[in-house]
Amino acid sequence: MSPMQSFGQDIWIMNGDHVRMFGMLPFTTRMTVVRLKSGGVWLHSPVRPTPEGRRAIDQLGPVQYLVAPNKIHSLGIEPWKSLYPSAEVWASPGFSRRHPDIAVDAVLTNEAQAPWSGDIDHGVIDGHAVLDEVEFLHKPSNTLIVTDLIQKHEAAGESWIWRGVKRMAGILGEDGGVPLDIKLSVRDKTAIRRSIDRILGWDFDNLIIAHGHCLQGGAKEAVNRAFEGLTGQ
Ligand SMILES: [Fe+2]
Repeated sequence: MSPMQSFGQDIWIMNGDHVRMFGMLPFTTRMTVVRLKSGGVWLHSPVRPTPEGRRAIDQLGPVQYLVAPNKIHSLGIEPWKSLYPSAEVWASPGFSRRHPDIAVDAVLTNEAQAPWSGDIDHGVIDGHAVLDEVEFLHKPSNTLIVTDLIQKHEAAGESWIWRGVKRMAGILGEDGGVPLDIKLSVRDKTAIRRSIDRILGWDFDNLIIAHGHCLQGGAKEAVNRAFEGLTGQ
């Protein structure tokens, strides 16, 4: 069985290792894979490569871009880069400060003209004290790709303690949304409102997130709901 699942036209997801945040809180991880019109492959938030994962990716085309969408999701960048040395690394604005040892080819600012812009739009979340994240719209499949800004962790297989912690943090199951700690650390409400309004203006109906339940259909309404309370507007 392929470790990669089709999500829509020219877009796939591949689940990775379970990791622990702060050495404790268990998280599932997920990478998004896009085949660009150019024939190249774009990997978002790459999970650690496995031989099966690499074989599945190789069937799509050559890996051209490795995307680190925030300063935390660095796990698979270097391992994939060593497998595909000509792939370009594109990273969030705060990534290099956190990972000065990982070589980055380009920074994902709002002004950056990404070579994949015919297939994928991007938008930086401004106005937050901690979150350093870039969101993406895959246009052929009308899919919004989010990393940590929205989380909907699976409840199944989770201990009652972690289910309780995640419920309190607002990130458990299909009702999950923007984590409480992110809601509580907005620095500039006007700036973050501008960022999320830009995202809500994109034409999407589906949602891929790095942690938990993805949505096929109905994503605009769900994302709108998740953003409620983020800016108090
Ligand atoms: Fe994450």
